[in-house]
Amino acid sequence: MDISGLKEKIEGEISRIGNIEDLKRAKVSLLGRKGVVADYLDKLKTLDKDQRRDAGKAINEIKTWADLRIGELEKHFDEIERQKKERASLIDITMPGTAPLFGRKHPITLTLEEIIRIFGSLGFAVAEGPDIEAEYYNFEALNIPSDHPARDMQDTFYIRPGVVLRTHTSPVQIRTMEAQLPPVKIIAPGSVYRCDNDISHTPMFHQVEGLMVDKNVRFSDLKGILSIFIHEMFGPDTPLRFRPSYFPFTEPSAEVDIGCVICRGAGCRVCKDTGWLEILGSGMVHPQVFRNVGYDQEEITGFAFGMGVERIAMIKYGIDDIRQFYYNDIRFLSQF
Ligand code: DAH
Repeated sequence: MDISGLKEKIEGEISRIGNIEDLKRAKVSLLGRKGVVADYLDKLKTLDKDQRRDAGKAINEIKTWADLRIGELEKHFDEIERQKKERASLIDITMPGTAPLFGRKHPITLTLEEIIRIFGSLGFAVAEGPDIEAEYYNFEALNIPSDHPARDMQDTFYIRPGVVLRTHTSPVQIRTMEAQLPPVKIIAPGSVYRCDNDISHTPMFHQVEGLMVDKNVRFSDLKGILSIFIHEMFGPDTPLRFRPSYFPFTEPSAEVDIGCVICRGAGCRVCKDTGWLEILGSGMVHPQVFRNVGYDQEEITGFAFGMGVERIAMIKYGIDDIRQFYYNDIRFLSQF
């Protein structure tokens, strides 16, 4: 009887096995009662006593070896199976899903949209101008003299001589009037830039400019329009006052204050105990500005105003640090 190929045959079959099911099947077909090894043991009957003893010993050795070998493999596949189950148990399919994070509008955008909506309802169109502006439009055309402190490099970002990042939205007044004849009735929202950075100033912020020019536009029109705006924005009971002021491009000029929304006029830290919060600058367009754009200042009059959007948003939402708008902290932004 030739048993020389038996071990190789078993090894060859086992080494191709890749999972526990195949291994079980192979175990039966190799070591089972009607398996390959049993077949060999069966054939021992045909041998004489001596041969039978030697061959029997050899076959049994192979059988013991195959048993061990298969046992090892069983352990190996069991371990893989156990690890698989463990991994699967880490996924809890009954757990609630993660809700997607919805984006929302920035509080400055919301405030800008509200301002545009209110002035839109009063017949004002939206005009725009560039953020990188000629020094002429930002200053000279607005009657701001060359010795004005705003023209210092400390206060204004200069791109190169004669070109600045606009420090206010007022240059859009000039650009609009150069491009069209009266009547003019616009607001100009946009970003503005100043070399400033502290609890109440960021180097970039937003303004909305307003300009109304026609025959017979009077200071009472300015008061009426701005009163309507303030009562729409902050509520119909909001007290307001016009306080004499100075701007080079308006004459007369007025700053507009509203009653402090925190203390209701009693005096607090926010209004510096005055009971009032300044929210915008305004005035009747200076005749020199009309001359600069070629309008006939004998024929027409107009008013202008400019407000800081961050300041309005801070008052409206009760925010005490302007820098919050630009930290991009989702915990802050998700409140609006
Ligand atoms: N441009 C001014 C500023 O940035 C604000 C301003 C004041 C605009 C009076 C106006 C105005 O149109 O009439 O401080």
